[in-house]
Amino acid sequence: MKVKIPADKSLTHRAFIFAGMAEGESTIQTPLLGEDCLSTLKVLQQLGCESTTDGNGTVTVLSPGYAQWKSPAQPLDCGNSGTTARLLLGPLAAIPGLRCPVMGDASLSRRPMRRLTDLLGACGAAIQHESEGDGLPLFIQGKTLSPINCDIPISSAQMKSAMILAALCTPGYHSVRTPKGSRDHTEKFIQFLGLDIKTELTITKNIIYETACINNDKKWGGFSVDIPSDPSSAAFFAPLALFHPKVPLIECENVLSNPTRTGFFDTLIDSGAPIEVVEETLRNSPESVVHYRIHAFDGSRSLNPFHIGPDKVPTLIDEIPILALCAAFANGTSTISGITELRHKESDRLSQTVRLLSAAGIKILASHDELVIHGPTARLGVFEFDTQNDHRLAMCAAILEKLVGSPCNVTNRNCVDISFPKFYETLEGVFT
Ligand code: S3P
Repeated sequence: MKVKIPADKSLTHRAFIFAGMAEGESTIQTPLLGEDCLSTLKVLQQLGCESTTDGNGTVTVLSPGYAQWKSPAQPLDCGNSGTTARLLLGPLAAIPGLRCPVMGDASLSRRPMRRLTDLLGACGAAIQHESEGDGLPLFIQGKTLSPINCDIPISSAQMKSAMILAALCTPGYHSVRTPKGSRDHTEKFIQFLGLDIKTELTITKNIIYETACINNDKKWGGFSVDIPSDPSSAAFFAPLALFHPKVPLIECENVLSNPTRTGFFDTLIDSGAPIEVVEETLRNSPESVVHYRIHAFDGSRSLNPFHIGPDKVPTLIDEIPILALCAAFANGTSTISGITELRHKESDRLSQTVRLLSAAGIKILASHDELVIHGPTARLGVFEFDTQNDHRLAMCAAILEKLVGSPCNVTNRNCVDISFPKFYETLEGVFT
């Protein structure tokens, strides 16, 4: 059966942000209207952009251009969205005269921001942390930054994107270096808009680095873009097709196929999962797409165990809980290592993944940066789990519940609206 997967969260954020920074009117077709992306849209409205959403879910953004953004009357509220807060910190810090308090919900306020505000500070940004911790709330006094030549020690698309967006608002020639591997949607979007960015690869002490070089020589006008479906959302349906006795085939169309995002599906395919990948085309987009056909394992074969190292982690960073669930069905022990960053997501996702899967009888162990999952699991059992409002864990718990085959006690389920507003309806649709 075909499962309707919502639009990609990372791309929707970027489309809204580039539309909010453009001078003129932009049209974003089939964006994700989940809570996180709506936070980005609301923040842009607070800065003076106008936006409307039509009956088909197409969003139009009218902006005076980032240089004309106005200081907001109320603190910019990023809700639960790390991508909203981190990506927008770059341009907000680089617009002279702008004065912005920035806040978020309790979970976002605990997430680390100082490693980004320090990088921006080194380029002359004036950002004040208003609490004792590392996170929000912050107060930004926008200034013209000095040319950006920064070296980001971790492979983080959010930090890289924030620095690139700051560079777009700052005169001169800029470079942003990170260990290779994190999603490159910001760079691709800049090329799609016809602006000047190129990426250079270098190797130091066996680590591959990528440096985005940005020549800030022009502003951009309104544009129109189509957003493909989110591979991180499609991932939840794969274990149902592969391992649930009553689900023979699941098809997901128009799924973003950027290699920095396909690690989950690539791992399953490399481990013997019967998944067909058919190339598709999406015309008005910076990104390529595919159609996944996920079949059931026939009785004679099963998933091979796999070993994911730190170089591959960025390509599946948001899929680790559901990948660990798949590993529970593999014929042997799988490992996923180099994942300390998982402790800084919407929850401590490393510990929470262990709690969830072990509650259902899966043999899973964690060290400070590794998960070890011993498959195959003899029998899944009914479990209890509090999602702590982490949307990806809530969806993982719902899939696990279907695989258990009996109702389980999962609390704080509604947070799925952050990235997949019709998740439970879509899931029930697979079984009717
Ligand atoms: C994102 C980057 C990743 C990812 C997050 C979305 C983005 O975070 O986990 O869900 O859109 O840039 P990091 O940059 O912290 O790895």
